[in-house]
Amino acid sequence: MGNEIRYDGKVVVVTGAGGGLGRAYALYFAERGASVVVNDLGGSFKGEGNDTRAADVVVEEIKKKGGKAVANYDSVEYGEKIIETAVKAFGSVHILINNAGILRDISFKNMKDADWDLITKVHIEGSYKCAKAAWPIFRKQKYGRIINTASAAGLFGSFGQTNYSAAKLAMVGFTETLAKEGAKYNIVSNVIAPIAASRMTETVMPPELLAALKPDFVVPLVGYLVSDANKTENGAIFEVGGGHVAKLRWERSSGALLKCDDSLTASAVLARWAEATDFKNPQYPEGPNDFLGLLEQAKNLPRNAQGPEVSFKDKVVLV
Ligand code: NAI
Repeated sequence: MGNEIRYDGKVVVVTGAGGGLGRAYALYFAERGASVVVNDLGGSFKGEGNDTRAADVVVEEIKKKGGKAVANYDSVEYGEKIIETAVKAFGSVHILINNAGILRDISFKNMKDADWDLITKVHIEGSYKCAKAAWPIFRKQKYGRIINTASAAGLFGSFGQTNYSAAKLAMVGFTETLAKEGAKYNIVSNVIAPIAASRMTETVMPPELLAALKPDFVVPLVGYLVSDANKTENGAIFEVGGGHVAKLRWERSSGALLKCDDSLTASAVLARWAEATDFKNPQYPEGPNDFLGLLEQAKNLPRNAQGPEVSFKDKVVLV
């Protein structure tokens, strides 16, 4: 274990650190020299109730092993109070792990506004509030590391989780923009879609799978990404769990370029559909399309050929 990465002198805030993945992160950083703020509201996995014991137990566990930790019991919606705890106890914050989360699984048909609002509040607003409060400190000290937590549900969709999926994919856009804005201040942000056994997943996964998916198997990637050993990844998306670490990126088909005149109809798009959706020669973009280049290429295109008729007869359209 001689090459173990350490975090001496670093202050780490882990939200939702009273259990599951958050607890594993908190123990990891504390064991490797960091001062840790163990934040947890201590509610149910559906976001009901609160209990200070969730955070207290983890703080005790860290202290017993000789580590440095303080508890914070605020909801991540009040991120400024969590960051204030870090500054009061340890003088700063260097690493923020936005991990707290809840579920309100229900089919879209039966979803209530309250199910939607609570999920977006905890995941999106919570991550925003914590990052927003840490940001001026990160900028001033020219050092900051953020991990945001997405989910396979956000990347691929998941039955009964429209609220959670929407909130989790928001973490990707949030991270990618933080990465761009933070780069010149040495603020590095990445996003993970973890999979791990926790109270969140114990009712939906079989026992043999749960045994293979310990939170401890997610932690090392996060430990690496926020360490000074990471010189390459900023704004990146990772899937991680059960010993598997994989990076995700966008893929764009090479696409079809159509003439922009009155021949650019739905039927003309249909005529070029195979080309528009052909991934044989893909691009792996890190930004929007180069429209100036496309405009140049499009200058001498002929009028578009028309495909089969596209009709909206008898349809009512709301725009
Ligand atoms: P967990 O339920 O074991 O832990 C989440 C912790 O967050 C709990 O201790 C809870 O009290 C705390 N929390 C909830 N709302 C809070 C709030 N408003 N303020 C402060 N703390 C709050 O769940 P788990 O599995 O450890 O999840 C951690 C993160 O990973 C979540 O963001 C979750 O959505 C995400 N995730 C987990 C997956 C898994 O396979 N376990 C899969 C994909 C994403």
